Amino acid sequence: MKLAIGCDHAAYELKNEVLEYLKSFENVEVEDKGTYSNDSVDYPDLALKVAEAVASGDAERGIVICGTGIGISIAANKVPGIRAANCHDKYTAEKCREHNDANILAFGSRVINLDTAKELVKAFLETEYAGGRHQKRVEKISDIEKKYSK
Ligand code: RB5
Repeated sequence: MKLAIGCDHAAYELKNEVLEYLKSFENVEVEDKGTYSNDSVDYPDLALKVAEAVASGDAERGIVICGTGIGISIAANKVPGIRAANCHDKYTAEKCREHNDANILAFGSRVINLDTAKELVKAFLETEYAGGRHQKRVEKISDIEKKYSK
């Protein structure tokens, strides 16, 4: 599976630690979209890079990290086809896959620690979408996108 990852300056260190952890997944090929230093950047720019990689099919999934996970997930969700979930624990990371077929995981470097980040990443990568009763709800999300796209 190809995975695109991106963060802003607030999450630069945590992203590096997550990149290290991702090496333990044999079937995951990672593309790091930045940012590549502690210099201040704007989280929508990094959200867009990851979201476009996922929406275009270049990457199957994405991970975005900022201070809270909020701004970068809001921005990623503006790209049609993206379902980015800002998660805080293993339960929400599992459910975003199982119920919402989330294709981008978001979290906050100022909200969770590295151990929790690892739990989220593992759950996000290893949990399958359940489909079934959830499918029509996910389709309704796409319908909202279509309603407002020109
Ligand atoms: C940057 O200071 C911070 O605003 C950003 O990382 C994020 O938390 C925004 O939602």
